Amino acid sequence: KQSPVIAPSILSADFARLGEDTAKALAAGAEWVHFDVMDNHYVPNLTIGPMVLKALRGYGITVPIDVHLMVKPVDRIVPDFAKAGASLISFHPEASEHVDRTIGLIKDSGCQAGLVFNPATPLNWLDHVLDKLDLVLIMSVNPGFGGQKFIPGALDKLREVRRRIDESGRAIRLEVDGGVTADNIGEIAAAGADTFVAGSAIFNAPDYRTVIEAMHKAIG
Ligand code: DX5
Ligand code: ZN
Repeated sequence: KQSPVIAPSILSADFARLGEDTAKALAAGAEWVHFDVMDNHYVPNLTIGPMVLKALRGYGITVPIDVHLMVKPVDRIVPDFAKAGASLISFHPEASEHVDRTIGLIKDSGCQAGLVFNPATPLNWLDHVLDKLDLVLIMSVNPGFGGQKFIPGALDKLREVRRRIDESGRAIRLEVDGGVTADNIGEIAAAGADTFVAGSAIFNAPDYRTVIEAMHKAIG
């Protein structure tokens, strides 16, 4: 397992004061920024793109920015995010025509690569590419919106991917996204996750530090 990381999903931040709100979550103890990109095509919602990421870098956000692409097609937007300052780029296999090629594109652009599994996406998409990945992201909600409820079936999937990562012997992160709270994060960590996305649980709370500290405490 890699050292634990909390990645606030800025989907639930105040978009009118995005830089300030993001910096506030980092000052409250979060390690990364999770950047949700939705295109009203692969998922039924529309959010933010490379220009906004670049603006966050310009504002002085220097921590890893974890880009979660919920877009189709994938490949042509990858270089734009890399140039804008993305650190990791993750995509859904169903949204890519050639999964191995997309992973290569992300790495060639200088970013780390992640593959994302929806609740109904089978893990056999990992079979021939696990060794090329830096991160596996297990969705614990159906993608498209913040503030949904954690789907418990994700726990079995996390355990299975943890087993496969350990078997590979590689430093691959196991991330979870959707419905993560200070109350369920302990159980999720026990299932094998080391990287935790949380949107509404952090940004809808009156004090970000209280939530992030409770999360860190629960995951040890
Ligand atoms: C869902 C997004 C998530 C979402 C998480 O499509 O990928 O990152 O913002 O939000 P919460 O933590 O509120 O479920
Ligand atoms: Zn996400």
